[in-house]
Amino acid sequence: MWPYPKIVAHRGGGSLAPENTLAAMQCGLDYGFRAVEFDVMLSKDGVPVLMHDPDFGRTVTGIGSVATTLAQDLLQMDAGSWFDARFAQVRVPSYEAVFLFCQTHQIWMNVEIKPAPGFEKETGRVVASLTQELLKTLDLTTAPPLFSSFSFDALLAAKQVAPEIARGYLLDDFEPDWRHALQTLDAVALHTNQKKLTPSWAKEIKAAGYGLFCYTVNAPERGREIMSWGVDGFCTDRIDLITADFAEHV
Ligand code: G3P
Ligand code: MG
Repeated sequence: MWPYPKIVAHRGGGSLAPENTLAAMQCGLDYGFRAVEFDVMLSKDGVPVLMHDPDFGRTVTGIGSVATTLAQDLLQMDAGSWFDARFAQVRVPSYEAVFLFCQTHQIWMNVEIKPAPGFEKETGRVVASLTQELLKTLDLTTAPPLFSSFSFDALLAAKQVAPEIARGYLLDDFEPDWRHALQTLDAVALHTNQKKLTPSWAKEIKAAGYGLFCYTVNAPERGREIMSWGVDGFCTDRIDLITADFAEHV
């Protein structure tokens, strides 16, 4: 049973906007999406911000790293120019700002906890604690958020702080001890790379009672294929090709 949206905009707006920014969330919304995945990392002073890479250079102009930069400086950084000059005013957003944007617009969140190397437990703890705090102050307008992470330690730390917030374990490929990992994390779902999923593994995951979520599906026919294997949902970069209501037409 998958109580979440089935089709999710990857990094906010997929490949149509600068990833992990409020502009990306707005882009997803403009394309009709009410479900997003995004990546969260800690600043030097422990503030969760949206960022995929630990180092600057690809999506943020400059040299340096997220874990060695204060939040007040990160939030001023240009996170849009790399994508297109018309996004030059787009800045790195805080997780809190994105959370509030999503609640205002009734967008469900798959919060990927993306620790910089060495900050796994701390990132899991801080993201879980802030999420818990925000959830307490709001009347939730969507299904509850779902945490995910490739970091077992980050998810375990999140579970210790906020066991009530559901967790999905991200595995890029099949690992023989996947069941044990999911049990230890008390996870509700396994999230994996659609390129590595096989029909038989999908069957095992579903038979074990877990949700099954894939990244990143950019062709409608591939979406239909993996859904026929039992996949519950997936994120996409092609929010123009695979629309929010895709699953209804599979
Ligand atoms: O959460 C699914 C997907 O986002 C994982 O890969 O590298 O895009 O964060 P990545
Ligand atoms: Mg991600």
